[in-house]
Amino acid sequence: MTSLEATTGPAHLRVVDSRTNQEYQVPIHDNYIRAKDLSKITIQDGDVAEKLRILDNGFEATACMSSAITFIDGQRGQVQYRGTPIQDLFHNNDFEDVLHLLLWSRLPTEAEKRATRSAVNAAAVPPKSVVNAIASFPREAETYPMIIAGMSAFVAIDEATIQSRHQHKPMFHGNPELADQAILRTLGYYAAVVALVHCHKRNIVFTNPEPDRSLIGNLLLMMGVLDPETGSGPDQNIEACLNKLWILYADHEMTNSTASLLHAASTLTDPTSCVMAGLICGFGPLHGGAIDLAYEALEQIKHPRYVPVFIEMIKAKKARLFGYGHRIYKTRDPRLALIEELIEQHKDKVAANPLLKIAFAIDKVANEDPYFVSRNLKANADLLGCFLYSALGFERDMIIAIICFSRITGGLAHWRESLTQPIKLWRPLQVYSGPKAIFPQQRGTNSTSSSTDLPNKGTAMIVTEASAAPEAKYRPKVSLRARAAIVWMRASYMVKN
Ligand SMILES: CC(C)(COP(=O)(O)OP(=O)(O)OC[C@H]1O[C@@H](n2cnc3c(N)ncnc32)[C@H](O)[C@@H]1OP(=O)(O)O)[C@@H](O)C(=O)NCCC(=O)NCCS
Repeated sequence: MTSLEATTGPAHLRVVDSRTNQEYQVPIHDNYIRAKDLSKITIQDGDVAEKLRILDNGFEATACMSSAITFIDGQRGQVQYRGTPIQDLFHNNDFEDVLHLLLWSRLPTEAEKRATRSAVNAAAVPPKSVVNAIASFPREAETYPMIIAGMSAFVAIDEATIQSRHQHKPMFHGNPELADQAILRTLGYYAAVVALVHCHKRNIVFTNPEPDRSLIGNLLLMMGVLDPETGSGPDQNIEACLNKLWILYADHEMTNSTASLLHAASTLTDPTSCVMAGLICGFGPLHGGAIDLAYEALEQIKHPRYVPVFIEMIKAKKARLFGYGHRIYKTRDPRLALIEELIEQHKDKVAANPLLKIAFAIDKVANEDPYFVSRNLKANADLLGCFLYSALGFERDMIIAIICFSRITGGLAHWRESLTQPIKLWRPLQVYSGPKAIFPQQRGTNSTSSSTDLPNKGTAMIVTEASAAPEAKYRPKVSLRARAAIVWMRASYMVKN
C-alpha cells in the first residue's frame, strides 16, 4: 500500500464544517479531489444554500484539466511527452517527430511527416491582406502586436474557421479530420506571420515557403536566414540546432498561455483564435516576455562589477530577477542540461556575447545567496535558450516570437485533446468582497440567518485557502510591463549613479 492509499475503503477527506457541525466525505481520486465535491458543503443564507467556494488566486493548487500529453515532476526534475522522457526525444528524434507525438500520440512515418509538411507549408503562403496588415506597422513597432495583427488577418479570411463561429453546433468536436486541417493551417499561418514580421522590421524580402521543405527549414527560408556559404536555402547549422532546441520548448503542460488557449477553446472558437489568446499571454512580462526584461536588465547592468548592487535591489524587492524562478520546478529544470549540450556545440558564439559574463555573475550569486537558494530561484530554461538564439544570430525582438512557434505545437495538442472531453464553458467564480444591499424579502425571511449574520465566526476544520486572510495573502506581488519598466529604469539609474 502506498502512502496515497487510504487504510480502509476508497480514499476520501473527512471534512467537518465547524459553522454547521456537518460532516462530509470528499472522495480522493488519484491524489486529487473534485471542486464540485467540496461545493456540496453549503451554508444557509436566508432561504438560499450558499455553496462553499475555493479561492486560488494564481491557480497555485487548482488543476483545470485532465491531460495525457505532458508529465512534469517539478520535485524530481522530470519532463515526459506522452510517457517518453524528454532526454530520449532530444537525443533520438527531431522536432517534427515530437510535433506528431504531441498532437497524435505517436511518432510519425516518413510519409506522415511529408504530408504534415506539405499541409503546413501550403498554408504558410500569405495572402495580400496578411502581408498588408503587417506592412501597415512602422518598421520599429513592437513585435508582438504585429504578430497578433498578422494572425487576425489570417483568421479574417479563413472560411472554415469563420464558419465555426456561425453555426449552432460545435464544428471541431467529433470531427478530427477538420480539426487536424485547422491545426496544420494554424501552424502555417504562424510561420508566415513570424517571417513576415521579421522581414518587414528589417526591410528584407520575404520568400515563399517550399512545399517539401522541413517546417524549421521553411521558417528560416521565409525569414531570409540563409546558408552563409551558398547564400541560398536555409542555414543548415541553425536548422539543426533549432531541430533539437524546439523539442525542449514544444510543450510544458498547463502553462499560463496553454491555459488561456484552452479558456478560449472552451467558448468553441476556432484554433487560430485560441492560439492568439495563448500568444497574448506568452508575450507577457511574467511569462515568455520575461526574457525581454532579463535582456534589458543585463544591458542596463552593463558590467559584472555592478551585479552586487543589482542583487541587493532584488533582495530588497525593488526589482524582480527576470528569467529566474518557476512555479513548478523546485529542483533544476531538466531541460537546462540539454540546452547546455547545445551551448557546448556553439560555445564560441555564445561566449562572444558580452551580456553572458553579466548573466554568469548573476547566476553565481543566485546559486549561493540564501535569498535565491531558499526560494528555489534558478535560471529558467527560457533564459538560457535565449543565449543560444542570440549566438545563432537572432536579434532579441524576434526570439520570443520564434520560441512561440515551437510552443504552439503543444498548445494545439491541448486544443485537440480538449475536443475529446465534454464541452464545458470555462467560467471561473469569484469571491465577492464588496458591499451588499439587503433586500426587504431577505430581511423578512423566517430563516435562522441572513446575509449579514452568516454563522461564519468559527473556523472549518479543513481550512481552505479562501478562509486565510485573502487581502494579505493574495495581494498581487508583481505588476505588469509598465511597472516593470519603471523598476528597470530605476535600476539603471542606480547603476549609473
Ligand atoms: C515565474 C514566477 C512568476 C513564478 O512565481 P510564483 O510561483 O508565483 O512565485 P512567487 O511570486 O510567489 O514568489 C515566491 C517568492 O520568491 C520571490 N521571487 C519569485 N521569483 C522571483 C524573481 N524572479 N526575482 C526575485 N524574487 C522572486 C518572491 O518575491 C517571493 O518571495 P517572498 O516569499 O519573500 O514573498 C516568478 O518566479 C517570476 O516572476 N519570475 C520572473 C519572471 C520570469 O522569469 N518568468 C518566466 C517564467 S518561465
